[in-house]
Amino acid sequence: MGKKLKKSNIILIGFMGVGKGRTARMLAKETGRFAVDCDDLIESFTNKKVKKIFAEYGEPRFRKLEKQVALWLEKKVRDTIISTGGGFLKVPNIRRIGTLFYLHSDFDQIVGAVHDHPNSRKKIKKRPLLQDVGQARALFDERLPLYRDLADYEIQAGGRSIEEVVGDIVQCMKNSKPVKREGTK
Ligand code: S3P
Repeated sequence: MGKKLKKSNIILIGFMGVGKGRTARMLAKETGRFAVDCDDLIESFTNKKVKKIFAEYGEPRFRKLEKQVALWLEKKVRDTIISTGGGFLKVPNIRRIGTLFYLHSDFDQIVGAVHDHPNSRKKIKKRPLLQDVGQARALFDERLPLYRDLADYEIQAGGRSIEEVVGDIVQCMKNSKPVKREGTK
């Protein structure tokens, strides 16, 4: 890899269903790094599914667990690809964990892709905040400027293949400079 990014972890942020996990796994393969997923870390730590944590203890408990994961990542994890839940942008130390890549897709594209997925029922069921499309859209509108403010790089993910998205990220990692926000809102 060319010039090194200042912060060694690569963090993928973005709305639910945009493909952060799949992108992280392919990026890991491409770069020879390990990938970890924040929701997986929470599930293994609590031995409960995210959906169950929301249902049994409520969203605030889940957000607290995200903060715990964030502190651990900052302290212990280096040179890793990190995929996050859509709300991870709110952890206070996110910028200290690594270089932030925001994966962008329009809300309608996200909903379309989730519905077209062969496992769509499961994909929707496991996400408590995707149950009501109106509320999810409001959440998207609220978060979009926050993702954009926070990100070091913005990558267009909607309507593109994982290979293209991964290719863009690898390019940024090599050049260490932001790609143009083409085709994004
Ligand atoms: C959430 C996104 C989910 C998961 C939880 C809350 C959110 O992850 O962390 O259901 O607040 O946007 P994905 O973005 O992987 O769906």
